[in-house]
Amino acid sequence: MDKEKLIAEINRLRQEKNAVIMAHYYQTGDIQDIADYVGDSLALAQWAAKTAADIIVMCGVHFMGETAKILCPDRKVLVPDLAAGCSLADSCPADEFEKFVQAHPGYTVISYVNTSAAVKALTDVVVTSTNARKIVDQFPPDAKLIFGPDRNLGNYINSVTGRSMLLWDGACHVHEQFSLEKLLELKEAHPGAVVLAHPECRKQVLMVADVVGSTQALLNYATGSDKAEFLVATESGILHEMQKRNPGKTFIPVPPADSTCACNECNFMRLNTLEKLYLCLRDEQPEIVVDEAIRQRAVKPIERMLAMS
Ligand code: 13P
Ligand code: SF4
Repeated sequence: MDKEKLIAEINRLRQEKNAVIMAHYYQTGDIQDIADYVGDSLALAQWAAKTAADIIVMCGVHFMGETAKILCPDRKVLVPDLAAGCSLADSCPADEFEKFVQAHPGYTVISYVNTSAAVKALTDVVVTSTNARKIVDQFPPDAKLIFGPDRNLGNYINSVTGRSMLLWDGACHVHEQFSLEKLLELKEAHPGAVVLAHPECRKQVLMVADVVGSTQALLNYATGSDKAEFLVATESGILHEMQKRNPGKTFIPVPPADSTCACNECNFMRLNTLEKLYLCLRDEQPEIVVDEAIRQRAVKPIERMLAMS
């Protein structure tokens, strides 16, 4: 089917089935353009919590679909490709995380949204990169906190809040890959450019960034800034919305190390395509399923996050 026909079919099906299409900023441009909502992990969870649709199609990765399902157990939650996982979520297996938590009694457990439902079920409050600092700040300064699974985001929050949260040693393979050397070369070639970086990046990259923030925060900064050039150290899908909102500005992706590619794409996010989006709306699968006992425990820290955001 050609692209025009695919778009027409997706539009027909979403209306017929009272379905809503949500997409993360790391999706391809054509998926972002057809979505009803495009946002970061926090916005996707907030929209899912409020939607009246019967079907939620989550164009993102598995944990995003799971979060929507945990919040809306009576809705059908579909993802275009069930294999769209997340290396960061995978770096924190629930059984090992449980041992870590049990080894530290008296600690409050804060988990990044990039985790499985089973890890969320072991958590006191979930955070995203947009609200992590705000939520951590709501705990007393001497609170004993565990933060998982992203060591880079955890280190960054520790450094800006003056805390010493215990960190799980996980990371995202995409954000860890940004090359400091290539970033420094780009800075030299574009001396007026503002460096934007996601807090999942390594410390050495964050140290040379002018702005550190979630995808939404970086997008907001670029849109509000009077500067014309930006070097962007996060998944390159965000450039689509940055460019759309700021047609007169230049956005240059920071490349990964050990690659001839100019930009850094998440292979999991890119498993979703317009064609798979059409097929999943048509067939109402693949569907996200969450064990009910786990869901009942996992919903509490997500609702706590939504209340504290
Ligand atoms: P945000 O959407 O919170 O910026 O997170 C980025 C990310 O890596 C999502 O997988
Ligand atoms: Fe996970 Fe990293 Fe891909 Fe985000 S970019 S979905 S954290 S692997």
